[in-house]
Amino acid sequence: MNRIFLSPPFVDEAERAKVAEAFDSNYVAPCGPMVDLFEERLARLSGRKHAVAVSSGTAAIELLLAHLKVDGSWIVIAPTLTFIATVGSAYRRGASLRFVDCDATGNVDASLLEAALKDASSEGRKTLFIGVDLYGRCCDYDIVERLCERYGALFVCDSAEAVGASSGSRAAGSAGIAAVYSFNGNKIVTTSGGGAVLTDSKELADHVRKMSTQSRENTLWYEHVEVGFNYRMSNILAAIGVSQLEKLPRILEAKAAIGEFYSAFASDGLEMLPHVEGENHWLSVLLLENSFKRDALIASFEASGIESRPVWKPMHLQPVFSGGRVYGGKMSEDLFARGICLPSGAGLSPDDLERIKAVLKAHISLSAMASSR
Ligand SMILES: Cc1ncc(COP(=O)(O)O)c(C=O)c1O
Repeated sequence: MNRIFLSPPFVDEAERAKVAEAFDSNYVAPCGPMVDLFEERLARLSGRKHAVAVSSGTAAIELLLAHLKVDGSWIVIAPTLTFIATVGSAYRRGASLRFVDCDATGNVDASLLEAALKDASSEGRKTLFIGVDLYGRCCDYDIVERLCERYGALFVCDSAEAVGASSGSRAAGSAGIAAVYSFNGNKIVTTSGGGAVLTDSKELADHVRKMSTQSRENTLWYEHVEVGFNYRMSNILAAIGVSQLEKLPRILEAKAAIGEFYSAFASDGLEMLPHVEGENHWLSVLLLENSFKRDALIASFEASGIESRPVWKPMHLQPVFSGGRVYGGKMSEDLFARGICLPSGAGLSPDDLERIKAVLKAHISLSAMASSR
């Protein structure tokens, strides 16, 4: 039996052909026509003026915080329900991290965000809010931007999981002074590993691009007035990205159908993380009664060769951030305890879905038997 992965790459001959094209051009380097084309298409997709393709979403966030010169004098606020890369750079830079709980959709709770922003503004320190579009569902860009503006905080958005999603009429990646995408192997569009910074600011884009290639000055020799990174995307990987973006509508359609399949099934007594308009269905999330049931279902999936995983463990529960300030916390704790990410790859076949359904059905009947005892 083939193993069913959570979110495997959806690639075929088209990506292979684009990689061959890049290879034949001899731009086997972190620059070249595929990088330029990929950036042009990413800017168009996100509705931004500029896109800078880099080696990962994590690198994109690091470059943004380096551009802003975030250090120990800053307060950085972020949703607690996210992947650690959202806040890793702020942590390493010594910023005071503050976490904010989510609402029932998994995205940041606006009233708790307001409380955190209000507190930060009363302290008179530079403040950054790193928003997150959780599991491909955009947070409310208009509300978050308004709140950050009201309390004098900068806003960047971690849209790593949200390529192709939207918040109202706005594309994922269009929020804040800049946003980031990830093209990690499990993302909706992959370059095997990669990321991008999206922004309308030429100054920010130019600086991020420069820092991603060791911050070399425009001189004949290697002149440096600052220290940069080696974070540029390779032309070979950009070729995969160009091809992936061409099939993004197909991927989104397939993912939406998988989301609908699970929702229809769950209407029989199971709960899903609520649908958010414009979501890209990166991962479908089922909510069970408690963590015992969650772990039992993950084990049943595993026994049938199916990968699933718990919802992100909130940052305020992570040992590395213990003792940190958190606004609220109970909602994300509950989603973590009960949430399980279901296989959501765009290439899932009807047979794969039936295999997953069979495990879910067995789980429901076991639960029903246990509760009738
Ligand atoms: C919310 C979030 N932020 C950041 C990242 C980091 O992206 P990357 O893996 O490309 O470094 C990821 C995914 O991996 C993510 O899910």
